[in-house]
Amino acid sequence: MKLSPSTLLSAAIVGGATLASLVSAADAPSDVLVLSTDSFSSIVDSEPLMLVEFYAPWCGHCQALAPHYETAATTLKAEGIKLAKVDCTVEEAVCSQQEVGGYPTLKVFRKGSASEYGGTRKADGIISYMLKQALPAVSSVSASNLTEFKSKDRVVAVAYLTAADAKDQQVFSDFAESRRDSFVFGLASDAEAAKAAGVVAPALVLYRQFDDPEVKYTGKFDEAELSAFLTAESIPLIDEVGPENFMMYAEAGLPLAYYFTEPEDASREATIEALKPLAKEYKGKINLVWIDAVKFVNHAKGLNLRGEEWPSFVIQDIQGGTKFPLDNLGKDPAKTVGDWLKQYVDGKLKPSIKSEPVPKTQDGPVHVLVADEFDKVVFDDSKDVLVEFYAPWCGHCKNLAPIYDQLGEKYAESKDKLVIAKMDATANDVPPSAGFQVQSFPTIKFKPAGSKEFMDFSGDRSLDSFVDFLGLNAKNKVVAKDTTNDTGSSDPHLVHEEL
Ligand SMILES: *[C@@H]1O[C@H](CO)[C@@H](O)[C@H](O)[C@H]1NC(C)=O
Ligand SMILES: *[C@@H]1O[C@H](CO)[C@@H](O)[C@H](O)[C@H]1NC(C)=O
Repeated sequence: MKLSPSTLLSAAIVGGATLASLVSAADAPSDVLVLSTDSFSSIVDSEPLMLVEFYAPWCGHCQALAPHYETAATTLKAEGIKLAKVDCTVEEAVCSQQEVGGYPTLKVFRKGSASEYGGTRKADGIISYMLKQALPAVSSVSASNLTEFKSKDRVVAVAYLTAADAKDQQVFSDFAESRRDSFVFGLASDAEAAKAAGVVAPALVLYRQFDDPEVKYTGKFDEAELSAFLTAESIPLIDEVGPENFMMYAEAGLPLAYYFTEPEDASREATIEALKPLAKEYKGKINLVWIDAVKFVNHAKGLNLRGEEWPSFVIQDIQGGTKFPLDNLGKDPAKTVGDWLKQYVDGKLKPSIKSEPVPKTQDGPVHVLVADEFDKVVFDDSKDVLVEFYAPWCGHCKNLAPIYDQLGEKYAESKDKLVIAKMDATANDVPPSAGFQVQSFPTIKFKPAGSKEFMDFSGDRSLDSFVDFLGLNAKNKVVAKDTTNDTGSSDPHLVHEEL
């Protein structure tokens, strides 16, 4: 499953923070265009570059995005880039035509052709992302505009290559094309620009708005080497993490190690300083950050810290979905953290897996699954297993509950062949053995008997759909009991509820 950092971000971080202060007055004049089914094509098809949000007025994430979207629209208007929105509860036809599967959905359009938006949902992130979309993958830079170009974004990579370096130019331009959503790339091919930059071609310099403002690249023009360099050097040694930059860390593809600290802690600055050598040592392997423990206590708990004592520390392998919390840092936090990191890279730490106690009995129609029993129940080769991962607060999960109970009843006689299970994924971690992470609620997975591979259930969540799906995919012969009336209902626009 593709990792969705924006989903993680909103779940992990926005959850704990308050955005109320950012909500703008509803009747302020807006730079966001309002599109309808009728006007959509005539406006979108002719714009060289625009961003469109598909939303529903009741959706919380859409409301949180709104003030950021407004700010970005105003800033980007000056750059000739338009932002628009479509209310999918009214303009159903265009939303269905655009295959909108959740709210909000953001798409970048170039003359009517759509691509996925890959930035954050914060004003700065939207602006930075769209400005990069407006630039060519590689801009040509000269001595006269080098200074201005260097400050275009928080990380700008400029290659100094002459016409003689044709092969390097090709490598650089392919590389820039592949990372154009994340970085601004420039190519300076005149000797004067290289002189102004204090380098001799072939060379590459990274201009940054943090730590050392200039970092010279000393490797070869090779895509893998350039990529490793950029991944390591585009991230500050140890920065504060929050909603604006979480996505950058999630996309870096490295484990993220958080130092949770209270804002009032007198020793905070000193400890962060003391962590810098560790950040250097593990640069390119693990990213280190610090985070406000009070504001983001829910995030701490989500990472299996107790959330009661600060400072504390946790390593999160975002890709692998594992976490390694350390509640008590003792008298010398930097030393304790150093030992923990060492054990982690040496593969000596076991991931922490949160679990509810194993239920003493299973009385209901649906098997109550917990993390500690996950492997035993789900990877029982003799059984077909359907699992719903839910959150107690999720509305779609609540709607599904009675249908899911009926489903359990239908197969009550076949429990030795087919398990209908549910797991509260807020109280239990999906173990790494599952091989997937739950990104939205409800997530419904099916594991056929004799297999270790999961399939997605993506039907309409009516009783009939479940029965049809199981009839089609279950390896064991099971018969659905004729039970009560089908109460299944679903809204085709709401494929999932985001975390
Ligand atoms: C910088 O100047 C050169 C020539 O003066 C021009 O070709 C180039 O487009 C400019 N680059 C930017 C990013 O403005
Ligand atoms: C099934 O549906 C019928 C007609 O809609 C209704 O009269 C009946 O009471 C329902 N039975 C149950 C058990 O819900």
